Amino acid sequence: MKPTLAPFPASRLRRTRQSAALRSLVSQNSLSPSDFIWPIFVMEGQDDETPIASMPGVTRKTVDRAVIAAKEAHALGIPAICIFPYTGMEARTEDCALAWSPENISNKAIRAIKDAVPDIAIMTDIALDPYNFNGHDGFVENGQIVNDRTVEALVKMALAQANAGADILGPSDMMDGRIGAIRSALESHNHQNVTILSYSAKYASAFYGPFRDAVGASSALTGDKKTYQMDPANSDEALRLIARDLSEGADMVMVKPGMPYLDICRQVKDNFGVPTFAYQVSGEYAMLQAAAQNGWLDGDAVMMESLMCFKRAGCDGVLTYFAPAAAKLLNG
Ligand code: PBG
Repeated sequence: MKPTLAPFPASRLRRTRQSAALRSLVSQNSLSPSDFIWPIFVMEGQDDETPIASMPGVTRKTVDRAVIAAKEAHALGIPAICIFPYTGMEARTEDCALAWSPENISNKAIRAIKDAVPDIAIMTDIALDPYNFNGHDGFVENGQIVNDRTVEALVKMALAQANAGADILGPSDMMDGRIGAIRSALESHNHQNVTILSYSAKYASAFYGPFRDAVGASSALTGDKKTYQMDPANSDEALRLIARDLSEGADMVMVKPGMPYLDICRQVKDNFGVPTFAYQVSGEYAMLQAAAQNGWLDGDAVMMESLMCFKRAGCDGVLTYFAPAAAKLLNG
């Protein structure tokens, strides 16, 4: 149903914009700390944090510091955090075995946070890139990223994370068939209630650069990820990927990156009506922070505007490095 507009002057669209009271009355979308998933980088060590140069305000944290961050997030009303491991070259191997070790830094962090902050939901990342010596999300054989052998490893990784206590698994690898394989392994290993938030429409984007610095992947990565991540020129394919992942047992889906892909978010929500998330990625965060630090943009204002746009585009929530800062502002 299209609204019918009376001709001017019967219709003056500025009427409902004239005061803060009227603007708030007619506003269609709202932002709350409960819309955020906060990505956190964890590293080995004790009582330590290291800044990430290309992500001002973001640090890699030892597990004890990540626990403090999780407590802070919970107190701010942020419902979920997402854990990403930092791994040096020495931890990376050809067989990526650390990926499914219960003792890897990610699984240690999951257990520690579950123990200290049982009410916050813990999301993970499923992909081999932090453990692979070549920085790829899958095994490389003769220069090719092989699919099915990678999926077997991702299933082991998923089970190790579920055993550690993860609530939301985040397969970010873009291999075919991984959602179905992970879902059936969860069912047969007594993890019926573990949810999957699939990185369904993940593009081969240059906006991931600062993240790769944060997790130690920048120097490791050989080549690009274009044979598994999507071409930024495509949108129909995103809808096929979402449909496929839902049919294999994903509970929630993600579009990534965020702000340059809001058209995809809207199409996903309109076509499927499922819990839809966007990842406001490291490069988006870096752009806004850099401009704010130079005094070129109002940092708080662009942060809030960028986050609200995800809601307007149909997202139910956003993974964002701004989560604690935005939650603080929202909480007054
Ligand atoms: C790795 C992964 C990436 C991000 C999340 N998981 C990088 C990549 O695919 O190379 C990017 C997140 C960000 O840029 O903030 N599987």
